[in-house]
Amino acid sequence: MNSEQKRYEGKAKIIYATNEPEVLLAYFKDDATAFNAQKRGEIVDKGRINCQISTHLFRLLEAKGIPTHWIESPGEREMKVRSVEIIPLEVVVRNIAAGSLCRQTGLALGTPLQPPLVEFYFKNDALGDPLLTRDRILVMGLATEAQLAQLIQLAQSINAILSDFFRQCRITLVDFKVEFGIDAQQNLLLADEISPDTCRLWDQSEVDINRRILDKDRFRQDLGQVEEAYQQVLARILAHIS
Ligand code: TMP
Ligand code: ASP
Repeated sequence: MNSEQKRYEGKAKIIYATNEPEVLLAYFKDDATAFNAQKRGEIVDKGRINCQISTHLFRLLEAKGIPTHWIESPGEREMKVRSVEIIPLEVVVRNIAAGSLCRQTGLALGTPLQPPLVEFYFKNDALGDPLLTRDRILVMGLATEAQLAQLIQLAQSINAILSDFFRQCRITLVDFKVEFGIDAQQNLLLADEISPDTCRLWDQSEVDINRRILDKDRFRQDLGQVEEAYQQVLARILAHIS
């Protein structure tokens, strides 16, 4: 891959142009960051594992009718995706209270959220990815009312499909973050990645509140066995994918 083809380098991926103008190549890196990149490190083999996990989850979602940017994964760390204009919103769905929800509201870790909470954060590192309200999103012109309704519905459907799938893997989908983009034909597509970097995943066969964690919280909280947790998630997905 030569550097002239490089379009963008983010914290976890590099995006390259391809010969086709509407197709990009996403290369998954091992770099890991947390707390708005104040904590940096590397998770060995993360790029390969997250690319594989994202591939399986995008295929599953496509098969269930969710439009995604995924086209194919030609290499272990590479994904061909449809070129989209990313909407700068981090759409977070929470089934169980954890992370910033507990810190900001005082809700106890593990509190079930029924119906699941759908939240929007502004994808802006300089501002620290703040929580947005519906009215702020409209005032900022980040999405229209119709797009917001569509995003909420898509997020809820994605949550239902992924929760059900992870349950079959004996994993609880606690919460996750997704991003969406708009392609040249104005289609709204699920974009970015879905992996242990962007989900909270708890092992249903572990009761210990630290041992059950199979996601990036192991890195955020220095719990150790980060690589093993990511590998475990991929292994369980491979064992259950049809
Ligand atoms: P939070 O509890 O820290 O707000 O995170 C909610 C979910 O979003 C969790 O599954 C981790 C994911 N997430 C990201 O993918 N990127 C981020 O920058 C943050 C803060 C969270
Ligand atoms: N990836 C995010 C960052 O470093 C934060 C996180 O996932 O905790 O900005």
